[in-house]
Amino acid sequence: FFRRSVSSQLVRRCGGSEEVFIPLLSAVPVSKRQLTPDFRLTVSSLVQNGILSPEEDLQSQTERLAKQLEVNSVIEDVTAGRGVLTFRVNKLLLAQKVLSELREDPQAFGVKSEILRSLPRGRTLVEFSSPNIAKKFHAGHLRSTIIGHFIANLKQALGNDVIRVNYLGDWGMQFGLLGAGFQRLGSEEKLKENALQHLFEVYVQANREAEHDESLRLDAAEFFRRLEQHEEQALLLWKQFREITVQEYRRIYQRLGVHFDHYSGESFHQSKTQEVLNDLRTHGLLKMTEKGTGVVDLSEQGDTSSYSTVVRSDGTSLYITRDVAAALERKQTFGFDEMIYVTDKSQSVHFQQLFQILRVMGRHWAQRCVHVPFGLVKGMSTRRGDVVFLEDVIDEARNRMLHNMNQSKTSKVVCDPELIADQIGISALIIQDFKGPLTADYVFDWERVLQAQGDTGVFLQYTHARLRSLLRMHGDETHTHFDASHLQDRRSISILQHLLRYDEVLLQSALELQPRYLVNFLLTLCHLVSSAHRDLPVKGSATDVAQARLHLFAGTCSVLANGMKILGVTPVEKM
Ligand code: ARG
Repeated sequence: FFRRSVSSQLVRRCGGSEEVFIPLLSAVPVSKRQLTPDFRLTVSSLVQNGILSPEEDLQSQTERLAKQLEVNSVIEDVTAGRGVLTFRVNKLLLAQKVLSELREDPQAFGVKSEILRSLPRGRTLVEFSSPNIAKKFHAGHLRSTIIGHFIANLKQALGNDVIRVNYLGDWGMQFGLLGAGFQRLGSEEKLKENALQHLFEVYVQANREAEHDESLRLDAAEFFRRLEQHEEQALLLWKQFREITVQEYRRIYQRLGVHFDHYSGESFHQSKTQEVLNDLRTHGLLKMTEKGTGVVDLSEQGDTSSYSTVVRSDGTSLYITRDVAAALERKQTFGFDEMIYVTDKSQSVHFQQLFQILRVMGRHWAQRCVHVPFGLVKGMSTRRGDVVFLEDVIDEARNRMLHNMNQSKTSKVVCDPELIADQIGISALIIQDFKGPLTADYVFDWERVLQAQGDTGVFLQYTHARLRSLLRMHGDETHTHFDASHLQDRRSISILQHLLRYDEVLLQSALELQPRYLVNFLLTLCHLVSSAHRDLPVKGSATDVAQARLHLFAGTCSVLANGMKILGVTPVEKM
């Protein structure tokens, strides 16, 4: 609304189009804690966009422009400073507009904004988590799980139809070894007790033994051959491993608040790889090498490693072949408009090749397939040692959080401390992970992750719980009338102005598929709220002042909760 009225004035006065001005106004950086109630446009951005001419004196041009801009009810005043044009917005209108929008439909706030209209909408398939059965669920899978969850939530909040897919690593030679190893070393009993743990142990030990035990290696190869031939006994055992593991994962995903619409896997697409090869062959894209392998030539795609191997000399398929099959199948089944893959950055080349193969196969929709890569987490270990299972990490977060809560004097009496500690622990893991650019590697540090002060998930939760408690204490009277003239102080205005930027932050997050903008926005909001608690008391203030402040806090609390949910963090009521 504000952006639009500023920009329509600019359009009227100096030509150009709304499309130029709206993003321009949105490009004002969401600077940390240094908030101004006003919009600013830098002169350099005006020059870049051809609104001012670099040939003439910029200061006088800026001053002229400022004078030209008429002052309406939204914009009180326009001034030309050195290098910037500042629009002072009408603060009464600001408070009224933002808070009544929030009161009418807190869920729609920000996500229905005009600036988000430019984003393409449709059906989005997000593939994430994708652990390997029987191998360890490492920190990378945790990252893929929470990042994918965030992307799916964001896309959904912005009005897309989202399909969440988990692509299990459930096929390949390792299942030969696991099957053969289990026949020697496994126990049904232990499998029932702790499937992931037991399968992993069998797998590790079988790997170790296979190094010096030729007969185990032969058995493993034989077992995999039987699997590939769909022999019943072998398949039955494999199915059991898969079933048990998936069940166990489901339980952990539930704890994280993550769900999938589909569990597919490499095994499922294995059967379709022949069709892929046929397709490539009929299009003359499959070349046989001297070694007997089949490759696709990608040299015209400007790729450096211009060949991609899609079939081995013994006729078996590869990881990439299964991925091509999976992409084709998904397009057919779900008719997605865009597909997003979330894995660590070591797989970037793999995905570039995958998309190129799809393009040379004439699948234009590959233009809208995206890989979101992320960096390594170093030093993530628990008291039990290096991380092997995801569950160990979230258990550790919960236990440490529980310990901190017991130590803290400000902790409230909550009815289920274990559950609260679990949720806060998970929030802390997520926020820590989302603070920087996803492709950066980072070093994990339990102390820092769980700090109650400072920029952590614990701080977000604490701020949310405190706001909720304030609103509970004073009753939910936020549907009543409020007088915006009581919200003209510096603290209130900076919160309101910050809330107004929520849509820009969502836009930037969606364009880049990076959570850090939203994380930083929420952390800043929480810092602003901390100061507001001190300077804008509700208790002891005159009724209409208290009423107006409650509206401000209620609106802030909704935006905080909405943002947290998009990040995959469940806001707690008390802590
Ligand atoms: N299971 C693989 C891994 O753990 C990740 C799968 C990524 N997705 C894909 N379509 N290739 O490394």
